[in-house]
Amino acid sequence: MSFVVTIDGPSGAGKSSVAKSLAERLGIRCLDTGAIYRSVAYVLDKRGFSPTEEKRVADAVASLSVRILPEGIFVDGEDVTTAIRTPYVDSIVSAWARLGVVRSGLLALQREQAKYGSLVAEGRDMGSVVFPAADVRFFLTASSEARAERRHRELLERGESVSCEDVRVRLNERDRADSERELAPLKEPEGAIRIDTSLMEKEDVINELLLIVRRQCPIQDNAGGTNK
Ligand code: DC
Repeated sequence: MSFVVTIDGPSGAGKSSVAKSLAERLGIRCLDTGAIYRSVAYVLDKRGFSPTEEKRVADAVASLSVRILPEGIFVDGEDVTTAIRTPYVDSIVSAWARLGVVRSGLLALQREQAKYGSLVAEGRDMGSVVFPAADVRFFLTASSEARAERRHRELLERGESVSCEDVRVRLNERDRADSERELAPLKEPEGAIRIDTSLMEKEDVINELLLIVRRQCPIQDNAGGTNK
């Protein structure tokens, strides 16, 4: 029997890496929906579209082929996995993610992923809009300082040179835009389990989530037994 675990929260709360590790430890797939929004923003921006042209954008989104594969994310055959992780894409993605035509155009693609088996889905509206009937809904959060520090480290590791203060300001701007938008704003889903990761090691966060998922989901372990 398959199940869905959702993880929502602001940027830098540790969602992506926790979701990935949690899915690995459970032996199930991980869906990074931020990567889907980033891909669409990146490709449409590159093709000269503007988020103000809703009708043209709606048609363009409907005609895009977005494929989420274990080796990366592809749009119309182009591997965009690395290109979507730049500060430039960070700065434009919210303007695209707030559009109804983009959100509704990507809904089916996201829900479809649960048809192929159990899933850890992470984003901003996973537990509230995309998978409201998920077996477990988490909301991961952290202080603005802790989130900026993590994101800053990530960017330095990728060779980007930015100050931590710049990262903190941009992160807060993006979270404000994501939380204040009209459609599917970032908010804690009803009934979600809230975890503040500010002072926690990643491994402890994963173990805590794992414990809860094992308790609440019909998990088949590798030997074929059930943990429920
Ligand atoms: O998690 P991330 O930073 O990669 O997300 C990129 C952007 O996409 C972010 O500005 C919020 C938006 N997003 C969204 O609106 N809904 C989701 N389910 C996931 C991400």
